[in-house]
Amino acid sequence: MLLAPGLVYAPGFLDAAAQRDMAADIASVVAQAPWFVPRMPRTGRAFSVRMTNCGELGWVSDQAGGYRYQVAHPETGRPWPPIPASVLKVWDELSGHPRPPQACLVNFYDGAARMGAHQDRDEEDFSAPVVSISLGDTCVFRYGGERRRDPSKKLELVSGDVVVLGGASRLIFHGVDKVLGGSSRLAPGGGRINLTLRRVGRA
Ligand code: SIN
Ligand code: FE2
Repeated sequence: MLLAPGLVYAPGFLDAAAQRDMAADIASVVAQAPWFVPRMPRTGRAFSVRMTNCGELGWVSDQAGGYRYQVAHPETGRPWPPIPASVLKVWDELSGHPRPPQACLVNFYDGAARMGAHQDRDEEDFSAPVVSISLGDTCVFRYGGERRRDPSKKLELVSGDVVVLGGASRLIFHGVDKVLGGSSRLAPGGGRINLTLRRVGRA
């Protein structure tokens, strides 16, 4: 379903079994690369989401270094684990891009977490889309246009939904207004997991 040029919404793309398999794959990523608390550049204010990554590059943010991609976990210093095959399959089916993703950011939202409106623009190459997979609790996702002041719309994302931000929508503002805590039992102990798959470098 096309929400706007380049903005594809695939509700229920993953069935219950595929969601369970992917959640188990992510649990094993987290066992190797534990959740960390990202912090805002300059202010050092903590994000309300916890993060980890898989893939050759991971997105991190802290007070001193700001937003960036790096090859190692900021706390363990170890390389990120590989992106699970279950996740790569979604990229292959929906990205329309010939090369595999270099980064998979994993966000964990408890019932109080949210994500302010932002653009995904820390990559060098915007020709590949961002593929976003939702698991666990439902959230209210908000998306607008390329300017912060553009009008925005809300969309409830439930477990198994996938959104692709590509083409003319690659740089739209988006965020998560709220999470409906307790709406799913997929994640151990509840909560929402979001995976965003990206190409980082050029070509
Ligand atoms: C993000 O933009 O990094 C996360 C979006 C989401 O959690 O759905
Ligand atoms: Fe984003």
